[in-house]
Amino acid sequence: MKVQELIDTARILVAGDKGLLAMDESNPTCNKRFAKLDIPQTVEVRRAYRELIITTPGLDESVSGVILYDETIRQQKKDGIPFLKVITEAGIIPGIKVDTGAKDLAGHPREKITEGLDGLRDRLAEYSQMGARFAKWRAVITIGEGIPSRGCLEANAHALARYAALCQESDLVPIVEPEVLMDGDHTLEQCAHVTEAALHTVFCQLYRQRVLLEGMILKPNMVLPGLTCPKQAAVDEVADATVRCLLRAVPAAVPGIAFLSGGQSGELASTRLNAMNARFKSRLPWALAFSFARAIQQPALEIWQGEETHVLAAQQALYHRARCNRAARRGEYNLDMEKV
Ligand code: 13P
Repeated sequence: MKVQELIDTARILVAGDKGLLAMDESNPTCNKRFAKLDIPQTVEVRRAYRELIITTPGLDESVSGVILYDETIRQQKKDGIPFLKVITEAGIIPGIKVDTGAKDLAGHPREKITEGLDGLRDRLAEYSQMGARFAKWRAVITIGEGIPSRGCLEANAHALARYAALCQESDLVPIVEPEVLMDGDHTLEQCAHVTEAALHTVFCQLYRQRVLLEGMILKPNMVLPGLTCPKQAAVDEVADATVRCLLRAVPAAVPGIAFLSGGQSGELASTRLNAMNARFKSRLPWALAFSFARAIQQPALEIWQGEETHVLAAQQALYHRARCNRAARRGEYNLDMEKV
């Protein structure tokens, strides 16, 4: 385990005003998003879409790292140049999703456990040898009547910690992602309570598994009311609740927190990240960054529609969303940026 290299990589991923772009949708998830827009769901079309993303001019101005999927990390541009080469030559750090998905947790109706630990050491060694410098594992926590259970929180935290320790052994920075879902009618307060419990459980397990906190990144949800909660929250309420929760549960040794977007619109995700940085940045021990998939990609995907002739316009939309989030890291984003 190369301690200094892990620390340096984790720091670079959240340095300045950049963040991460998640483009690690599994094939079923990617296909689902394509199907909604009548885009053909084939290996070649997924490849073409990922080529569009990584060849976006100026992406490196706002994006420090991209998270790839097993299919994507092995692909090439149409001209034969490997994606990994394109990414690293653009000055962007490649990362890889390594969990194998959330499955039903036995004995716990409506709850999930993320799988992928079996054989993980060998897979990580291969990705590390290919040139990946960080990895991602997502745990999913649902709020509902009587859930999440302790059993679900503990099983997922334990898996995240085992994954994180294995990553560091292979010189990969683990992105630790316990996602409390937005689905449901729960309140902001319930989300705050569950997120705090989930994070305490995760950091307890990370400590038990001897994970180097300086060499990891946390990827949490923002604290939000459920999508169908009748009482939605103002931007400042979200910023306050999220920062309060993180201050209580995330050790200062962690270099950065990079939020997932979780289904928020691009503009809302930028607005909320901006509010946190504008109001609290100078008082926080860690960087507050982004690791968005949908909140960066969605407008570009909708413009592209699988058409070669739409590539430039789609890349402009992707660049724009990445740039808005860069501004949000500085606390300088405002809705006027959306009018350009
Ligand atoms: P979203 O930003 O679309 O929630 O995706 C982030 C991610 O990587 C989920 O694992």
